[in-house]
Amino acid sequence: MRVLVLHGPNLNLLGERQPEIYGTETLAEVNATIAQEAKMLDLEVRCEQYNSEGRIIDALHAARGAYAGVVINPGAYAHYSYAIADAIAAIGIPVVEVHLSNIAAREAFRRTSVTAAACRGTVSGLGARGYVSALRALSEIISA
Ligand code: DQA
Repeated sequence: MRVLVLHGPNLNLLGERQPEIYGTETLAEVNATIAQEAKMLDLEVRCEQYNSEGRIIDALHAARGAYAGVVINPGAYAHYSYAIADAIAAIGIPVVEVHLSNIAAREAFRRTSVTAAACRGTVSGLGARGYVSALRALSEIISA
């Protein structure tokens, strides 16, 4: 079973970007944790990172037919990208949203996720381990 993990804008700077909020692990380290968990779950996982909305949408479209499910951290696009929300709704495969930080406890503009409404569920505030939880949930959803 194949799963796509999509990291959105600014997540390429993980480790150096506001570590008090997003942690000290780099994206490569987060992806290594994801790969380790994928192995345990017997999933074939590919991780991609894009800073632009269009590339995220293209990646979601390309996931159709190629992947059984998607884990996405849309970054700040979560808060206002109806285009990404529409793409998630359009592709017809389960998508789980992840946020490293607890967006419910942050600035007002971060407390709404328009993309989460199109997803099967959201994991927020658990740091990098949120990706592990999302993968486990997705694994159960796609094998049900
Ligand atoms: C984030 C939360 C967003 O508000 C922020 O813009 C990000 C990261 C998170 O993982 O906590 O870039 O998605």
